[in-house]
This record gives sequence, structure tokens and C-alpha cells, in this order.
Amino acid sequence: MEIPFSTWHDAVSKRRSIRQYAQKPVVADQLEAMRRVCDEFRPFQSARAVLVTDAPEEVYRGIPGGYGKVKGATALVAFIGNMQSPDVQEAMGYTGEGVILEATVLGLATCWVGGFFSPKRAAAIAKVAPNERVLAVTPIGYPREGSSLEERAMSRFGRNWQRRPMSELVTGLGEKDRPAWIKSALEDARLAPSAMNRQPWRFQVDIGSIIVSADSVVNPTMVVSKRLDCGIAMLHIEIGALTSGVRGSWELLKSPQVARFKVAAEV
Ligand SMILES: Cc1cc2nc3c(=O)[nH]c(=O)nc-3n(C[C@H](O)[C@H](O)[C@H](O)COP(=O)(O)O)c2cc1C
Repeated sequence: MEIPFSTWHDAVSKRRSIRQYAQKPVVADQLEAMRRVCDEFRPFQSARAVLVTDAPEEVYRGIPGGYGKVKGATALVAFIGNMQSPDVQEAMGYTGEGVILEATVLGLATCWVGGFFSPKRAAAIAKVAPNERVLAVTPIGYPREGSSLEERAMSRFGRNWQRRPMSELVTGLGEKDRPAWIKSALEDARLAPSAMNRQPWRFQVDIGSIIVSADSVVNPTMVVSKRLDCGIAMLHIEIGALTSGVRGSWELLKSPQVARFKVAAEV
């Protein structure tokens, strides 16, 4: 599936993590559209997404009324990685974010959940193979009325809505010298979601390329790989570039670098 960059670009700035859902089933057309994007957006061999329409709430853990606790959603998407593949984390981030952005386009609420869920329960309902693991899930549904205020109140865990300034994230080519596609790519990347809003990505910018790396901050309590967060930022970079008319390709790199996006052609 080609990246539908103009609708996904709009979704990049609209999307917010929602953890409180209305107890209302998702309508059939929307479920069908979600099933389609899960089946068709498969840019990597090692990562896939599966829609589950009747997921028990016990899949989610977390602090009641606080960070991580998802309530009310009956549908979810499981993000499943083949653990034998060395690129599984960045592949999962990239693939899963496509599914999340398409849900946003469809008017559905989502929240990446990589820490506060039971991988065993999720694996059982999503029917994973022995070499696979559920790396994260997202609830799919409609926000509960008034939930956006509660979501804001949770922001003491990671200041959910704030993003680091560009100057903390980018090295290389100075701001004045950056072509329009790089500005657009970096703006979309900066808005990407990450576990605990840690924004671990760093971008090294050259005239025809952007290298994504993970920062060196150590936090032993975090179970989610920074490479997964960086995979999310990779998709955002590509969406931003395509939006300003530039097509490129990815080369995966060794840790702490993650990948290089190189310009291939004007769209
Ligand atoms: C890989 C990943 C894992 C996440 N895991 C959790 C989680 O376990 N529980 C939770 O409540 N939020 C989780 N989040 C949501 C982040 O806290 C949220 O994306 C971040 O605070 C930015 O807020 P925003 O998504 O509203 O822009 C996760 C996000 C990502 C990208």
C-alpha cells in the first residue's frame, strides 16, 4: 500500500492519545476500513497489525484514572513483531503508526500502549506464532465525553502534549540552509508520539538525507524499545517529505543509529 500522505499528514497534527472510551461499539464500516489498513499496510516482513473486535478490558494495566489505564474500549489493534528479525522494533513503530494515523483519518481514537498491557493476554486474543510477540496494542473507539480534560490532568506523567524544541533534536545543516522538504519532514517527526513522551529521536540533517538515531538517556524502568519510537518518527519524516514533494528510501543502520532517509526523486 502506498502512503496516503496528504490524509496522514493532516492526521499527524490532529492525533492525541485517548485512554477513556465511550462504551459504544465501533460501526461496521470503520471496522472494515481498519481491517483493510492492517492487512494492506505491510512495509516490512517483520511487523504486522491485527484487529481484534471483542477485546476484554483486562488486556490493559496501569494506574486507575492515571497514566496507562485504558477504559471502555472494546476493539483493539495488536502490533505483532517477528522477534527473529533484527529490524523488528523500528519496523513495528513505522507500521503501527500507519495504522494509528489511518484510524485518526477515520475519526477513531487511539493510544499506543507499549508498557501498561498484558502481552500474554494480547498474544492469546491476537493468535500470535511462537516466533512472534505483541510489542504494543492500541484501543480503537470513540472518546468518552469529557475525557479530553481527564487526559490533560494525566499530563504530570510526561507532559503529554508538549514536544521538545527542534534545536534539541537536530544537528547538521543549519535551519536557514534546510530545503523545504527537510523542514516539513522534521516538523512532522517532532509531533510523533513516543512512550512516556520521551521523544528519544535525534536527527542528523544533510542536504539530501536525514539520519534518525536514538538518544543515550538510560531508563531501566522502560520496557518499550527506543527503536520502536524512532520507527514512528521515520514514518512521520516520510509523510512530511512526501507532502512537500519528495520521495525517498530508508536504509536501516546499526544502534544507536536507526535509519537514513535518502532523497530518491521529486513526487
Ligand atoms: C511506543 C509507545 C508506547 C506507549 N505506551 C503507553 C502506555 O503503556 N500507556 C499509556 O497510557 N500511554 C502510552 N503511550 C502514549 C504516550 O504516553 C503518548 O504518545 C505521549 O505522551 C504523547 O502524547 P500524545 O500521544 O497525546 O501526543 C505510548 C506511546 C508510544 C509511542
